Amino acid sequence: MFPFLLVILLLLSWSTSAHHPPEEFLHCLSFHFKNHSSIAKVIYTPNNSSYFSVLKSAAQNLRFSTPSTPTPLAIVTPLDASHIQATIYCSRKHGLQIRTRSGGHDFEGLSYTSKVPFIVIDLVNLRSIDVNVEKQTAWVESGATIGELYYEIAQRSRTLAFPAGIGLNVGIGGHFSGGGYGLLFRKYGLAADNVIDAHVIDVNGRILDRKSMGEDLFWAIRGGGGGSFGIVLTWKIKLVPVPANVTVFTVRKTLEQNATKLIHHWQYIAHKLPEEIHMSITISRVNSSAQDEKMTIQAFFSTMFLGGIDKLIPLMQERFPELGVVKEDCLEMSWVESNLYFAQYPKGAPLKILLLRSYKSPLSNLFFKAKSDFVKQPIPETAFKGLWPKFYEKEAKSAVAVLVACGGKMDQILETETPYPHRAGNIYSILYVLDWEEKQNINSVRFIGWMRKVYKYMTPYVSKSPREAYVNYRDLDIGTNNKDKSYGHARIWGLKYFKNNFDRLVRVETIIDPENFFRNEQSIPPL
Ligand SMILES: Cc1cc2nc3c(=O)[nH]c(=O)nc-3n(C[C@H](O)[C@H](O)[C@H](O)COP(=O)(O)OP(=O)(O)OC[C@H]3O[C@@H](n4cnc5c(N)ncnc54)[C@H](O)[C@@H]3O)c2cc1C
Ligand SMILES: *[C@@H]1O[C@H](CO)[C@@H](O)[C@H](O)[C@H]1NC(C)=O
Ligand SMILES: *[C@@H]1O[C@H](CO)[C@@H](O)[C@H](O)[C@H]1NC(C)=O
Ligand SMILES: *[C@@H]1O[C@H](CO)[C@@H](O)[C@H](O)[C@H]1NC(C)=O
Ligand SMILES: *[C@@H]1O[C@H](CO)[C@@H](O)[C@H](O)[C@H]1NC(C)=O
Ligand SMILES: *[C@@H]1O[C@H](CO)[C@@H](O)[C@H](O)[C@H]1NC(C)=O
Ligand SMILES: *[C@@H]1O[C@H](CO)[C@@H](O)[C@H](O)[C@H]1NC(C)=O
Repeated sequence: MFPFLLVILLLLSWSTSAHHPPEEFLHCLSFHFKNHSSIAKVIYTPNNSSYFSVLKSAAQNLRFSTPSTPTPLAIVTPLDASHIQATIYCSRKHGLQIRTRSGGHDFEGLSYTSKVPFIVIDLVNLRSIDVNVEKQTAWVESGATIGELYYEIAQRSRTLAFPAGIGLNVGIGGHFSGGGYGLLFRKYGLAADNVIDAHVIDVNGRILDRKSMGEDLFWAIRGGGGGSFGIVLTWKIKLVPVPANVTVFTVRKTLEQNATKLIHHWQYIAHKLPEEIHMSITISRVNSSAQDEKMTIQAFFSTMFLGGIDKLIPLMQERFPELGVVKEDCLEMSWVESNLYFAQYPKGAPLKILLLRSYKSPLSNLFFKAKSDFVKQPIPETAFKGLWPKFYEKEAKSAVAVLVACGGKMDQILETETPYPHRAGNIYSILYVLDWEEKQNINSVRFIGWMRKVYKYMTPYVSKSPREAYVNYRDLDIGTNNKDKSYGHARIWGLKYFKNNFDRLVRVETIIDPENFFRNEQSIPPL
């Protein structure tokens, strides 16, 4: 009886949470849309039968897709810039907030939820990609995904690539806005470091390019986080060279196979390896064996190397012999295929997978909470030993910690060059993720509590004053803006994401969006 009642209650709260936009807003839009016949194709109000499927199509964290999650008054899926300009104009006029969504991967759902009446601009229809092999550049629209970009590049060249993330259905718009790192960042820096021009629509509906926006705004959009300065329509990027074949391997070690020692040792080695190597460790718990219910920790040491097996093996033998990597662990493949490999597809998987916006990736379509850290000093072995029991707790069944080695090119780029400040001095970053199932979401507090406990436990071992965090791994626990948009309040989380770059971001916001129209719980406030 109880679950049945609950369902009814949830359904009730659902239908009451679907508010309708004011008629005047819709009139305003139809008046300002240059092409009237397209209006029915781009506006979804709650009484449109497609409204919920459009809303959920890119709501990647199911925590923010429950019946009690506030929903937008309307979703606009623009076909061109004029639709965005009209939506900004009419939303301002009628006192509605806008949330911009590219891929919808924001960890805290900020691109599709808000506590105040709001409109979602979903850029799903703005995803063209134009690759110029000769000039080694490309224009990519914000609504495209990383996978789509990699696919388009790979269709034209096996030896060109772009240093963005490995989350293949992540949107370009949010990803570039927050930095964006993946298999090539030790060699070429972040996605944002390789942006050379952009088109931004500002609060007044002006379309600005690098020249007309000026270097301050152009600086801010390359790592200052999405949702603060305007809507980035399209990005011009510099492509980078890669060998026709790269090498990958994944070696699994459990505690019984000295995983703790190896992880500890890795901290001294990985960030100093040649910048052609990307190395990460994914840590989780498993049963010791199929017969044995005793738990252990497993660590996957994953590597991508810009070169052949014949070069990688001697290098690993010289620098990290304890890992015991042998030729048989290694595979050669094109760079684009290595991204599928890191997304856990077998060698030879069709490249068309890159085009699936809804494919099952490690974090999409789950209820999850995540946090991030940066590490400056190797963590003692005893600290890891103290962490393992937390992974054995009931809540931690699917808990994962991903350690990604920094160094290389990241050490050579100045902290102030883009808003992303986590450069020299960081030996690796940690991403903690915990997900759970729908039926457990009623107890989400327990899971989130586990995550906070682990974060607290790690305090002595990670960056301090500020405890740094990656803005693309959005975490509202580290602070949110308060209602009176006070700068001092925002500085608490701002310093963690941006260190002293935060103050420059505030100056840019003060000029480009003085009324703070583009805002969310963690947007850059104006002074
Ligand atoms: C499965 C998964 C894998 C990931 N892998 C990586 C990885 O390998 N490397 C990495 O660095 N990060 C990774 N991330 C983090 C990812 O980079 C961020 O979550 C990123 O912000 C998502 O961008 P989006 O467009 O998909 O998200 P959205 O939720 O659409 O946007 C995120 C934020 O940016 C704003 N925004 C979106 N589009 C625009 C725009 N056009 N103009 C202005 N603001 C905009 C939104 O309003 C929101 O505040 C991953 C995340 C997930 C869930
Ligand atoms: C107006 O929009 C419709 C539907 O999207 C499209 O078919 C038509 O070509 C557009 N007309 C102009 C002038 O852009
Ligand atoms: C819902 O929206 C779609 C796309 O905008 C449109 O084609 C359809 O006619 C709408 N349906 C209703 C019932 O309004
Ligand atoms: C949608 O619902 C609103 C409010 O109930 C109503 O005013 C409007 O006419 C409806 N629109 C359509 C297209 O059915
Ligand atoms: C673990 O390390 C010890 C020495 O540190 C070594 O003797 C032993 O063989 C290692 N075990 C495995 C499974 O590699
Ligand atoms: C691990 O052991 C637990 C019992 O402790 C069992 O419920 C679970 O199915 C096992 N998992 C696997 C993958 O075998
Ligand atoms: C890439 O590696 C594969 C597997 O080792 C090999 O068959 C292929 O010839 C290589 N291609 C190039 C262009 O080197």
